[in-house]
Amino acid sequence: MAVKVLRLLALLWVTFEFAAAGSYEGYKLYEIATETIAQRNALNALAQEDADKYDFLSLSRLHTQKARVLVAPAHDESFQAELRNQKIPFELKNTNFGRTIQTEVLQNRMLRQAKPYNGTGRLGTERYYSHDEINAYLDDLAARYPTRVFVRIVGKTYEGRILKTITITNGDGVTGKNVVFMDGAFHAREWISPATVVYAIGELVENFEAHAELLQDYDWVILPVMNADGYEYTQSASAFRLWRKTRQPVTVNGTTCYGTDPNRNFGFHWMGKGASSNPCSDIYAGPSAFSEPEAVVVRDIMHSLRDRGILYLTIHSYGYALFYPWGWGPELPDTWEDLHEVAMVGADAIRDYSGTEYEVGSSTALYGEAAGASDDYAFSEGFTLSYTMELPHGGDSGFDPPPSDIDRLVKETWTGIRAMGLKITTKYPSPKQTLS
Ligand SMILES: *[C@@H]1O[C@H](CO)[C@@H](O)[C@H](O)[C@H]1NC(C)=O
Ligand SMILES: *[C@@H]1O[C@H](CO)[C@@H](O)[C@H](O)[C@H]1NC(C)=O
Ligand SMILES: [Zn+2]
Repeated sequence: MAVKVLRLLALLWVTFEFAAAGSYEGYKLYEIATETIAQRNALNALAQEDADKYDFLSLSRLHTQKARVLVAPAHDESFQAELRNQKIPFELKNTNFGRTIQTEVLQNRMLRQAKPYNGTGRLGTERYYSHDEINAYLDDLAARYPTRVFVRIVGKTYEGRILKTITITNGDGVTGKNVVFMDGAFHAREWISPATVVYAIGELVENFEAHAELLQDYDWVILPVMNADGYEYTQSASAFRLWRKTRQPVTVNGTTCYGTDPNRNFGFHWMGKGASSNPCSDIYAGPSAFSEPEAVVVRDIMHSLRDRGILYLTIHSYGYALFYPWGWGPELPDTWEDLHEVAMVGADAIRDYSGTEYEVGSSTALYGEAAGASDDYAFSEGFTLSYTMELPHGGDSGFDPPPSDIDRLVKETWTGIRAMGLKITTKYPSPKQTLS
């Protein structure tokens, strides 16, 4: 019976999806491995100048990974012509990206319908969860571990979704400990990000004994789904699967576009290099700094933790990189060697665990300028260490890993996060002494 209902639902969904798939129909996915510096420079220039035409899903400045670019049918000819012109070799990875994306959204929807979260117990790693399910899990933890866990409502998204943080302690009641602040899902389409953050929460709370050292002198404050509006939007239909920004509309010169890149919206070198003033761009910095309520929430958390904040960690995908300030320009902070050292501990732990190689460096060195990002802001507001972690991608055709890869990836990533968490307990052991 249940199986029949599921099949029927799936059929209805597929029918609806074919009607809605529109926006990725005929899109092609290219993979590009540059071989020379000239090719590298040409591709970097293309990514900068034609960001509105070609969607570079991943491109590190050093090109240690292959770049992946999603191209709409209307721009396909000019894209190939550009590459041929510059003698950049390319490989066509997927000629029907629309269908791949459709399958992905459908699969996630079916898994969710087949086994909804019942509101108690640890969230598994077999599928991607909704914002509501993740919030329900936080509440469940607060109920089951009342002395170790505190859940707070920290604000609302533009569309009115409730944002919650979970503060994880070891329950000894000591206040004023150093703090790690971690967040996920800044970018809506990076589903592996909240999945990773939720896994980390599960480890720190439900597998506490194995990680007691991490919480001896540190509390962890975690916001699992920052851009909840965008995250839900990407799951509503395959046509929206690759949405990146928030969902607040902005009208400029009579044209309305939706959303701001929350990771360009922070008030430090706002609207500098690597940010766009075009509201239709994927890297639009917003009409003003902190125009997005979700960015305000993160800012206010950072301010509240300023005196105790040692480590800020924001989880993104994809890129196989751990990068630190600055992202607004090529300068390095005075303490860049400390930033580098701790990031290397994370990258080494991941390599030892699974062989996955992460790049470590400043965000500008690895990816080029991206002013107005949260990691720069945290660092400018006094966090001792601040990192963006760009996770691996999955499969050969998709952007995020398929559900079958979630378990492997979140465990691999947690290994790195844990190693950094452990490192700071010895590198920055005592309560932070703030200058006043
Ligand atoms: C909810 O699911 C978990 C397993 O995921 C199970 O252990 C628990 O008993 C369930 N609770 C209820 C109330 O159904
Ligand atoms: C809006 O119009 C003004 C005046 O023509 C122009 O300077 C500005 O660049 C336009 N903004 C956008 C985002 O197109
Ligand atoms: Zn991102």
